[in-house]
Amino acid sequence: MVQKVTAVYFSATDTSKKGTETIAAAVSAAAGCEKADTINLTRFDAEPARTEFGPDELVVFGAPVYGGRIYRGAAERFRKLKGNHTLCIVTVTYGNRDFDDALLELSDLVKELGFVPIAGAALVGEHTYGDIQKGRPNVEDLAEDAAFGAKVAEKLTAGSFSEPEIPGNRPYKEGGSGGKFHPLTGENCVKCGLCARECPEGAINTVDFAVNPEKCIACFRCIRRCPVHAKNMDTPEYKEFAAAFTKRLAERKENRYFL
Ligand SMILES: Cc1cc2nc3c(=O)[nH]c(=O)nc-3n(C[C@H](O)[C@H](O)[C@H](O)COP(=O)(O)O)c2cc1C
Ligand code: SF4
Ligand code: SF4
Repeated sequence: MVQKVTAVYFSATDTSKKGTETIAAAVSAAAGCEKADTINLTRFDAEPARTEFGPDELVVFGAPVYGGRIYRGAAERFRKLKGNHTLCIVTVTYGNRDFDDALLELSDLVKELGFVPIAGAALVGEHTYGDIQKGRPNVEDLAEDAAFGAKVAEKLTAGSFSEPEIPGNRPYKEGGSGGKFHPLTGENCVKCGLCARECPEGAINTVDFAVNPEKCIACFRCIRRCPVHAKNMDTPEYKEFAAAFTKRLAERKENRYFL
C-alpha cells in the first residue's frame, strides 16, 4: 500500500502546480497517507530535496505543454529523479490549444526513470499568452482534479496497478522549446530582484534586471511575479499576436483524465 504521496512539478505560471498539488492532496487523503509532500523544480537553481523514491510511494508529476510536448527544461529536471517501482500519476497542463504528444512523452519518460504510471491527466490552464481561459484551473477544475485523485485512490485500494491508455504518437511531434516573446523591463523597476530569483532559466541579470533573449524561454513567469508590473510584453507585435491567438483558441476545452 502507498505510504507517501509527493507532487513533483515544473510550473512557470502556477497552473501545473495547482493541478498537481490538488491531485496529490486528494490521493493522499483518500488513501489515508500523511499530507502530500511537494517538490517544486521551477526555479533555475531548484534542487530536489530528494531524488530517490521507493516502492511504497506515489509521485504525481506535473509539467506544462510547450509546442505539443512537455517543456524540455521540465523533462531535464525530472531526469534527476529515480523511482524504484514507484507508482505515479502523470499530468500535463496546456493552454486550451492541444496537449498533442506531451502526456505520452511524460509517461514514457517516467517509465524510463523507474516509475510505474497508473493514471494520467491532461488539464487546461490559462494560456501564457493572450486572454485564453483566464483563471483556469478554476474551482470547478480543481474539484474535478480532486475527484480524479479520489478515483486513483480507489484503484489503489482495489489493488489495480494497470497502465492507463494515453493518447499521442511516437515519434513525438517537434516541440518542447520556449517561445519568442522576451519580456521588457520598464523604468518603474524597483530592483527588488524577485524576477531574477524566480526565472526558470537564469535569464535575468542582477544589475539592471534586463532579460537575456538567448536564455529566455518566454514563459512570462517574471511578468506574473513582478510586484510593480515593470516586467511586461507591451509591444505592438505581441499585442497583435495575442489578440489573434485569443480569437483562434476561444472554444473551451475540458480536462481529460485517464485511469
Ligand atoms: C512557449 C510556450 C508554448 C506553449 N505551447 C502550448 C501548446 O502547444 N498547446 C497548448 O495548449 N498550450 C501551450 N502553451 C500554454 C501553456 O501550456 C499553458 O499556459 C500552461 O497552463 C502553462 O503551465 P504552467 O503555468 O504550469 O507553466 C504554451 C506556452 C508557452 C510559454
Ligand atoms: S526572463 Fe524569460 S525565462 Fe525568465 S521568467 Fe521571464 S519570460 Fe521566463
Ligand atoms: S521583479 Fe519587477 S521590480 Fe523586481 S527586479 Fe524584477 S522587474 Fe524589477
